Amino acid sequence: MKVNLKETLAWKKLTAYFLQIKDKRITDYFEDEERMQKFSFDFNGIYFDFSKHRWNQSLLNHFVDLADEMDLADAIQQMFAGNKINITENRAVLHTALRQMNDEPVMVDGTDVIPLIRDAQKRIKSFAGQIISGQWKGVTGKSITDVVNIGIGGSDLGPKMMVEALSSYKNHLNIHFLSNVDPFQLDEILQKIDLETTLFIIVSKSFSTQETLTNAKNIQQLYIDKYGKSSVQNHFATVSTQINAAQSFGIHPDNVFPMWDWVGGRFSLWSPAGISIALALGYDNFEKILQGAHRMDLHFKNASFDQNLPVLLAFLTLLYNNLYGFQTETYIPYAEKLKYLPAYLQQLFMESTGKSVNLNNEPVTWQTGNIVWGNTGTNAQHSFFQLLHQGTKIVPVHFMAEKNNTTTEFKQNHRILLAHMLAQSEALMTGEKNAIPYKNFKGNRPSSVILLDEINPESIGSLVALYEHKVFTEAWLWQINAFDQFGVELGKKLAGKILEELHMSGEDHHDVSTRELIKRIQ
Ligand code: F6P
Repeated sequence: MKVNLKETLAWKKLTAYFLQIKDKRITDYFEDEERMQKFSFDFNGIYFDFSKHRWNQSLLNHFVDLADEMDLADAIQQMFAGNKINITENRAVLHTALRQMNDEPVMVDGTDVIPLIRDAQKRIKSFAGQIISGQWKGVTGKSITDVVNIGIGGSDLGPKMMVEALSSYKNHLNIHFLSNVDPFQLDEILQKIDLETTLFIIVSKSFSTQETLTNAKNIQQLYIDKYGKSSVQNHFATVSTQINAAQSFGIHPDNVFPMWDWVGGRFSLWSPAGISIALALGYDNFEKILQGAHRMDLHFKNASFDQNLPVLLAFLTLLYNNLYGFQTETYIPYAEKLKYLPAYLQQLFMESTGKSVNLNNEPVTWQTGNIVWGNTGTNAQHSFFQLLHQGTKIVPVHFMAEKNNTTTEFKQNHRILLAHMLAQSEALMTGEKNAIPYKNFKGNRPSSVILLDEINPESIGSLVALYEHKVFTEAWLWQINAFDQFGVELGKKLAGKILEELHMSGEDHHDVSTRELIKRIQ
């Protein structure tokens, strides 16, 4: 079903109701004594407080009507069933199959993908076991001490975020992430590692990303020069849909792990692209991450929309983006372990929903993807929180934190951290009246709090799947394709041309500014 959001009856009713309540203060909504009960949720050791938002039950009911009228339930079912919902690329979208716990068939083009996934998982488990146990030897007979994940975008951000989030589960392997083509990063990593004891994993769904291949080839050459061509087999593995290209790089077929076109790069950490997670934490922990995500999948599939966490988060984004006209939302983990989460979410949300044509390939007539940003607290308090509290723009804030911190003896630090988060959420909402304008806090600024009992493989798996399904839901309501990314292509194409021209002179088919810049770099 392809529908125009604005032409639905539910949208018309929703906007009419919104106009009645839009100026109401969040604090006034708390006159409803059941507000906490209605707007807070427990999910397997994760507590969600959505009460400090500019909504009430009636508004939420209107959103539920919208989701019903737009047949969100059917859209969800279609994704899980493997229908080709990525219509521009004619692909299924099956990151959920990667964490399916039973072997119920999921068919794509007449093939059940579950056995393919099981086979890849078995191979990754055995591969990770060999590296972690020290059984795998480098070219000079030494065991592996360091692993470098070479990849960018979805082939970097998800695994890096997970490895950092679960650093307290890490084994002895040192894991590095090489993403940028800036040689500074390559040089920096090379200074930290020993080629004899390092394994490089090229993660590239397309096996054609310039940054990744340039870095991989540089390192491959170092091995060839120092230890001969065959050494590449001892020190490289890869994950890609392009098995042949990967093999012709010199990687042994046993160490080429599959990707599939039904897994988008930014949704791929659950696939073999998450191999660095399995190496860093051990396969059992990787599996627990999948289990946590699977729990969220079941919730997304089965919970009614007024209790459905990803759906509620998507409603909030529509409320602020499309009704209030706020353009950004910020994610602030009060947990250093989650320091890479905002960057991960930026790709997940903005690459997915930064679209301006609908599923009929016509221009959309409403706002789509929000600008997503963030940083860890309390650090962020000392940088951009001034704007959150007193700026002219309203930015809905999503706080998150770990309730128990079992890995430190500095318990008081943790309590201070949490106190700050709660204080910020309260201050944003309540504000503080002051006759002196520059000391006045208007308040009524919305925020959520997500409190994880513990950041562990299951909870972080659930959290990330939550955000994936939020993206799915809002994209459906906006009627855009969340699963392609044609917007990154033009820049890539032009960079190719400009790279050639940096070595030439007299090229004049660029704009005046670009021409001048080329001249200055030549
Ligand atoms: O440039 C965007 C992008 O295609 C992302 O969607 C993707 O995650 C990243 O590049 C890396 O792609 P690949 O895994 O094919 O190297």
